[in-house]
Amino acid sequence: MDVKFLRRNIFQRICGIPATPKPENTVSWSYSNGQLTIDLGKVPELRSPGSAVRLEGAGLPERILVVHAEDGSFCAFRNRCAHLGHRRLDPVPGTHTVQCCSVNKSTYDLSGNRIYGPAKHSITAYPVRKESDKLIITIHI
Ligand code: FES
Repeated sequence: MDVKFLRRNIFQRICGIPATPKPENTVSWSYSNGQLTIDLGKVPELRSPGSAVRLEGAGLPERILVVHAEDGSFCAFRNRCAHLGHRRLDPVPGTHTVQCCSVNKSTYDLSGNRIYGPAKHSITAYPVRKESDKLIITIHI
């Protein structure tokens, strides 16, 4: 697979500042009993294929990256690079990959398999199903 790098400046890479935003609407998702539910109608940041949001805090057991893939499907990952720094991940447009926001740029396919960089193993991908305007993500720890 051809690996491309997300354009980020060195300050962003050194500090591990991800490109992916949190949803502006803080009541657009909820978590309970291992199930994360996202109301797509309240998350315009996820509307277009190629977009993504990161969800953190508010009782979530893990940071989660949700990607609206360019084929129209949705994917969800534990938002924690498998390399030592455990930095956050961003989708890389046009590549069907997600990539660590750090200097070393470990990169994974949309199944979570490592394809580039110093990380030694894959990242966790969670099952996602879409029910009308809701995304249901099962978080297994
Ligand atoms: S923390 Fe991701 S490559 Fe180092």
